[in-house]
Amino acid sequence: MTFGIAKTTSKTMLALLLVSFTLLSCIQANVFYGCEAALRVNRRSGNYQIRGKKDGGIAEAKCRVEKSNIVTEIYPKAIPNTFVSGYQDAFSYEFKVDYGNFTNSDMTDFLKSVNYNCYQKFNYTEANSYWANNKFKFWDNSIFLLNDAISDGICQCVISDVCEKSGSSLSSCKSLSPYTDTAEYTDFGKFAVKKEKLPLKKVYFGDTDSKAEYIYYTVHNLVCSTTSQPKVNTLYPQSCLLKVEDKLFDFNNNTCFDIVNNLTVISFEFLMEVQEILITIENGECSDITVFLEKTLTSQSYIKPCRYFVKTSASTLTLIVEKVGLQLCEMEYIYK
Ligand SMILES: *[C@@H]1O[C@H](CO)[C@@H](O)[C@H](O)[C@H]1NC(C)=O
Ligand SMILES: *[C@@H]1O[C@H](CO)[C@@H](O)[C@H](O)[C@H]1NC(C)=O
Ligand SMILES: *[C@@H]1O[C@H](CO)[C@@H](O)[C@H](O)[C@H]1NC(C)=O
Ligand SMILES: *[C@@H]1O[C@H](CO)[C@@H](O)[C@H](O)[C@H]1NC(C)=O
Repeated sequence: MTFGIAKTTSKTMLALLLVSFTLLSCIQANVFYGCEAALRVNRRSGNYQIRGKKDGGIAEAKCRVEKSNIVTEIYPKAIPNTFVSGYQDAFSYEFKVDYGNFTNSDMTDFLKSVNYNCYQKFNYTEANSYWANNKFKFWDNSIFLLNDAISDGICQCVISDVCEKSGSSLSSCKSLSPYTDTAEYTDFGKFAVKKEKLPLKKVYFGDTDSKAEYIYYTVHNLVCSTTSQPKVNTLYPQSCLLKVEDKLFDFNNNTCFDIVNNLTVISFEFLMEVQEILITIENGECSDITVFLEKTLTSQSYIKPCRYFVKTSASTLTLIVEKVGLQLCEMEYIYK
């Protein structure tokens, strides 16, 4: 009996060791080279740690898809709804915003990788703090006073919501507030600076010394969007060096890929599972194309453009085209 217990215990120990080893290796392996890699491996949206290069800084990010785009949301290291009070002099409260431990060059590399296609929102709530005492520094070190951001032509107020709502770039902060000058008001929206200046690097606030004067602020995620193309393989004819993707994914219905073989087989490897695919063709009918997902025939509708509904969860798709002269013009898809 004792022997039995000892045996069980050592087995349990072994199992525990294995579990902790697995957990440990999971944690170590859990940093991805960007959201595309994180999504490709995990196949679902979620929070991941990302870095741009080997030994580079690491940031926490929410990785998700929007139609066929990859969206990277980098979390700032800042507490939501930070309360600022007791700072009398202009700009005397300072807070530097970090994004994980991304260095300047890590951030620059990241921004380049997403073509600077980003925005960032900010919630600025205040009562009685004089706006000329408050300013914002952005990643390129440019500085804007709260109510003097017009040099980029987007909005007078550094938070662009007032201008988006009024339709005029000359709207001041708090111009939409229904309250009188002294009451608490909120400006919440996207930063009114050119995309190349993002993200926010530092805030400087002041005039919050008396009890009736205070600021609450929240730095929101840096949200960046980029397209992702599936990997394309031409299975047949193998001899041809076909650049199908250049014409299928250029968002242009007028550039088409000509089918010159009696039998053309092309496979697509998507980043994640897709739920719907739309193919625009010329000189043919949707029925000239057979679509397989892994090994299952996909349900399809035959009204142009050809719409294919993906029933089973799949990220690999194969097209078989048997009509010479048919042109494949555009492929659009929606991720699950
Ligand atoms: C960034 O932080 C991680 C822990 O979160 C650490 O392992 C890594 O060494 C840090 N990198 C740099 C460049 O500071
Ligand atoms: C902005 O912050 C204020 C103060 O904390 C809060 O009451 C308000 O709900 C926030 N607005 C948005 C849109 O998040
Ligand atoms: C291509 O044409 C189809 C059908 O006219 C249309 O539904 C689709 O939106 C077009 N795609 C692009 C990217 O213009
Ligand atoms: C396609 O097949 C038909 C007969 O099946 C043949 O006559 C024709 O030459 C073929 N075309 C090409 C481009 O191979």
